Amino acid sequence: MVASTGDGDMAEPLVASSLPLETRFPPFHLRQHGGFWFPETLLPGIVAVRTRFAPRPSDVFLASFPKSGTTWLKALAFATAHRADHPPHAPDHPLRHRNPHDCVEFLEVSYALDPTADAFAALPSPRVIATHLPYPLLPERFTAEGAGCKVVYVCRDPKDAFVSAWLFARKMAAAAAAGAANDDEPWPVPPKPFGMEEAFELFCDGRCPGGPQGPHVSSYWEASRRWPEKVLFLQYEEMLQDPVDNVRKLAEFMGCAFSMEEEAAGVARDVVDLCSIDALKNVEANKRGSRKYVKNEAFFRKGVAGDWSNHMTPAMAARLDGIVEDALQGSGFAF
Ligand code: A3P
Repeated sequence: MVASTGDGDMAEPLVASSLPLETRFPPFHLRQHGGFWFPETLLPGIVAVRTRFAPRPSDVFLASFPKSGTTWLKALAFATAHRADHPPHAPDHPLRHRNPHDCVEFLEVSYALDPTADAFAALPSPRVIATHLPYPLLPERFTAEGAGCKVVYVCRDPKDAFVSAWLFARKMAAAAAAGAANDDEPWPVPPKPFGMEEAFELFCDGRCPGGPQGPHVSSYWEASRRWPEKVLFLQYEEMLQDPVDNVRKLAEFMGCAFSMEEEAAGVARDVVDLCSIDALKNVEANKRGSRKYVKNEAFFRKGVAGDWSNHMTPAMAARLDGIVEDALQGSGFAF
């Protein structure tokens, strides 16, 4: 697979098949690019994003390491940004009928589906777009001084992110197995049991989608310290503790702070209620809908902090904490 960087005549094409390969994380092959591991099928999209995506000053990117609260952040940001057109209590609100991933799409996934198209060009401003790319791999035209674009990053305790990622990968592998049984399409990684120990070793080594987590988090943390008006850094656990306050922060950062009238009417609380895990779990599209790799219901599991203790030994927890601590050393951020 060749994905041209398109940076001009001198640019070397990115040859995906020459990049380091990881075949043990189901159901995708992973390739290492720019120090991070990605599903191989996304590489053409990652390259196309850097060269083809045309940012607008009003764009807001929602960035995250996978399984850190992306779905929730998508719902909250979408509901907040579009509350004039779609009041959160409205029965026909898009989030009552559609999965958050259908309301806010992933940049690199969209370009991977068709690297020559710009699916986002048709969206009205302000656009809300998601990404799992680490900060250094965001399009330069987006991060450039003066570009005006904003990024909201959500991070999560590595132990909970790991458990969530492992269980999600098992669900994807099971869906792949079902797909293979139906002979829909061949899957790169043959369906196989994905045990906790194997998943843990891979995660500790950063060999998981978006990994390693520590450098992913520190890239956004450092950007948020350097350009606080451009990068907002949120923590999943703090959002669970005080969702309304975090939605206020989000609205203010996105340039659509809640007015005094809205505050008096409890609109921030309405947004939080609309996007709560229980509310989203009950949406028909999330109960029965399905996407290529997984059923929609897989995005909504427990949604709590500390579930890792039901799956990991204290020794595993200490090891993973140590790895992430080391990666974050000197950044000024710690979990
Ligand atoms: P758990 O597997 O620990 O329950 P992502 O959206 O980045 O894929 O992250 C998935 C995690 O976010 C899952 O965690 C999921 O349950 C949780 N989640 C999904 N929707 C949520 C919501 N509305 N509120 C809080 N957590 C949510």
